[in-house]
Amino acid sequence: MWTRNALQEFISAKMAGIKFIVVANREPFIHTYKDDRVEVLKPASGMATAIDPIMDASGGTWIAHGSGDADREAVDEFDRVRVPPENPTYTLRRVWLTKEQEEGFYYGMANDGLWPLCHVTFTAPTFRPKDWEQYEAVNRVYADAVLQEAGDGPAFVFIQDYHFALLPRMLKNANPKLIVAQFWHIPWPNKEVFRVFPWKEQLLDGMLGNDLLGFHLRYHCQNFLDTVDRQIEARVDNERFDIVRGGRTTCVRPFPISIDFDEVNALAQSDEVRAATAKWKRVLGKRAEFVGVGIERLDYSKGIPSRLRALDDLFERYPQYRGKLTFVQVAVPSRQQVPAYARLAQEVEQLAREINFKWKDRGWHPLLLIEEHLGPVDMGALHRLSHYCVVSSLHDGMNLVAKEYIAGRPDEGGALILSRFTGSARELADALQVNPFAYHEIADAMHQALVMPAEERQRRMRKMREHVARHNVYRWGAKVLSELLKFEFPENT
Ligand code: F6P
Repeated sequence: MWTRNALQEFISAKMAGIKFIVVANREPFIHTYKDDRVEVLKPASGMATAIDPIMDASGGTWIAHGSGDADREAVDEFDRVRVPPENPTYTLRRVWLTKEQEEGFYYGMANDGLWPLCHVTFTAPTFRPKDWEQYEAVNRVYADAVLQEAGDGPAFVFIQDYHFALLPRMLKNANPKLIVAQFWHIPWPNKEVFRVFPWKEQLLDGMLGNDLLGFHLRYHCQNFLDTVDRQIEARVDNERFDIVRGGRTTCVRPFPISIDFDEVNALAQSDEVRAATAKWKRVLGKRAEFVGVGIERLDYSKGIPSRLRALDDLFERYPQYRGKLTFVQVAVPSRQQVPAYARLAQEVEQLAREINFKWKDRGWHPLLLIEEHLGPVDMGALHRLSHYCVVSSLHDGMNLVAKEYIAGRPDEGGALILSRFTGSARELADALQVNPFAYHEIADAMHQALVMPAEERQRRMRKMREHVARHNVYRWGAKVLSELLKFEFPENT
């Protein structure tokens, strides 16, 4: 069983004297001004939540974009700040981007181009040459920061996500002694879908600068191998899952990511969550006999409209829930500069108005739409008081909300309704699995969740909890690091 301590011991035994550098666009802590004070926030990011405990165990350096308006206040003259603020264990090195760089790199190429390309959810990607230029320029900015932080000694560089496809090759060209790995947190599409990407060769060549390239699922690894085989000069070994290009090998491996089960489980039993549960019960009112929840970023890949249509369908076809069931949808605003996200926000708000107008009744509302970021205590409370949680992603690399819901139910209550098109669905066979494009299936699953005998609910939840407890984020970290440790630094490093 991997724990925070076990990973910490593993790292100090095996990685002593080796620098550990993580690169991610999103920083784990954001400094912002609130009135006259500086406040520290944790972003709503599955990636940041997963990597933070590993950084904590490794004591390395995390390089990320300083996106908070008070971020510059907090750093020293080398743009570094020790975090977590209350008990520092590692270093955050901030990188500064201009407005144009952020626009082209983050909103443009990463989230209006690569995100829809890889998620395949019928939202067409937009490929602007100027976004690609900024993407390349920003990858270069990060390469400079990594090379500076790594210095001359041995260092592992662990790159996160689709924001940095070009970075591995840039690093390897500049310093071949670095051992470079990347984890792609979103799906990799099949070769037919990838064909539409205009800068295929550069992107793939950049990624093949990695020694190790990780995806959540074997299926995504296979898609990547097929894409490379089709698009670029390289030797693909489908048995070993290795790719050789220019005499150098990239190992492609699946590492299904997870959460800190113990932390979520312990929080769910805390006094704070107990108090917050009572508060939310008051907010929902006495008539909310049944409660469903959905908690995520307001992103079109999450299938929120489909879920709201399912709620409407539930009241249509199962009248017994009218006046008795309230669905709480927490939709954290995200990437609102990207038109597809702004359109989604309008669609969700409109649907919420229609559903509430259609079904509301004396002091009872069928739907509570909360468009703000909730902290872990409020999320824990909503998990605890709900009868079911819906994760209806149209496509998702993994989806950690599903795993958090399970870890947040130490009482073994609650049912998980889970899209078949998430990576989590491969591990969580005891969830009520649905096709998120078929809202009637979600509605039927909501009904099934509510009429399921208590013993069955408990049996399913217990099995899923056992799985997530064992397959936690520390195990994920240990697996990635063990794979990294198989690579040898050159003699004179
Ligand atoms: O899935 C990709 C991902 O980076 C997640 O890891 C994370 O939860 C989400 O996107 C957050 O996105 P952003 O950092 O753009 O807000």
